[in-house]
Amino acid sequence: MQDFLALADLSTQEIQSLLDLAVDLKKEHAGGGNKPILQGKALAMVFQKPSLRTRVSFEMGMQHLGGHALYIGPQEIGLGQRESIADIARVLDGYVDGIMARVFAHQHVLDLAHWAEKPVINGLSDYNHPCQGLSDALTIYEHYKGDIKGLKVTYVGDGNNVAISLMHVCAKLGMNFAIGNPAGYDMPAAAIELGQEIAAQSGSSIELFNDPGTAVADADVVYTDTWTSMGQEEESKKREAVFPPFQVNNELLRAAKPTAIVMHCLPAHRGQEITDEVADGPQSQLFPQAHNRLHAQKALLATLLG
Ligand code: CP
Ligand code: NVA
Repeated sequence: MQDFLALADLSTQEIQSLLDLAVDLKKEHAGGGNKPILQGKALAMVFQKPSLRTRVSFEMGMQHLGGHALYIGPQEIGLGQRESIADIARVLDGYVDGIMARVFAHQHVLDLAHWAEKPVINGLSDYNHPCQGLSDALTIYEHYKGDIKGLKVTYVGDGNNVAISLMHVCAKLGMNFAIGNPAGYDMPAAAIELGQEIAAQSGSSIELFNDPGTAVADADVVYTDTWTSMGQEEESKKREAVFPPFQVNNELLRAAKPTAIVMHCLPAHRGQEITDEVADGPQSQLFPQAHNRLHAQKALLATLLG
């Protein structure tokens, strides 16, 4: 693996190895600290959008492994504005051992990976969020004690970047994926087709619904995300009128298995896509899920930079 741009690019074995390593590194960290396997290594973190989890988990992950991370915000380098992406990539190559980038256009992270010789990690684009998908797989894997093949994972809400990465990681690992989204807010057709191809290989299914209750029926995992992603702010009023039937609340959750867990990549807009009672309820995995970003990404850093 040279870069980490999309879960669909990885084999099932590569994803499984990352999960196994994440479990080991998490245990090692809890037992007194990780070995400094990235001593002397540096990660540049390029952000065109805000972040809490991605920034802090990558920065702390590098620190735990003995390396260093540096934050480069939107004011410092306007990707493709102050300087071309090709030039930025070739300059960073001489300073650091890896580049993590959170961008608007997915093409920009692809361009960075094309020009940089050092590994590039996609920290979220308008198309996908593979770091989230990988750590979500870790959360599901831990909760269901590795017995995840055939589980039903339902995503409720906007067919966005987080939904796409979740669909692809489910398909890779043999979990059945369902989505309930409002008409007109589907995942892109090409992402669905790719998901269906991967699902056919693992013997899992992908189901698409415009009714949240049908999508959630008998689910083992119920997942949601914001109705308005970063960069779509001017559509938020329109979306707030369309999405309320897709709120994850106690009534919707009753359609899932009683043992189902609830997930959200965060930040949550409580009272919109999720209620307080669900976010803070007994089925919520929201905070273990957020904490797993750290452990999954350490596995990624160890693999790509180690
Ligand atoms: N889930 C996630 O990526 O959070 P941040 O936007 O805070 O990094
Ligand atoms: N779909 C959200 C995820 C934030 C982590 C966004 O892109 O803003």
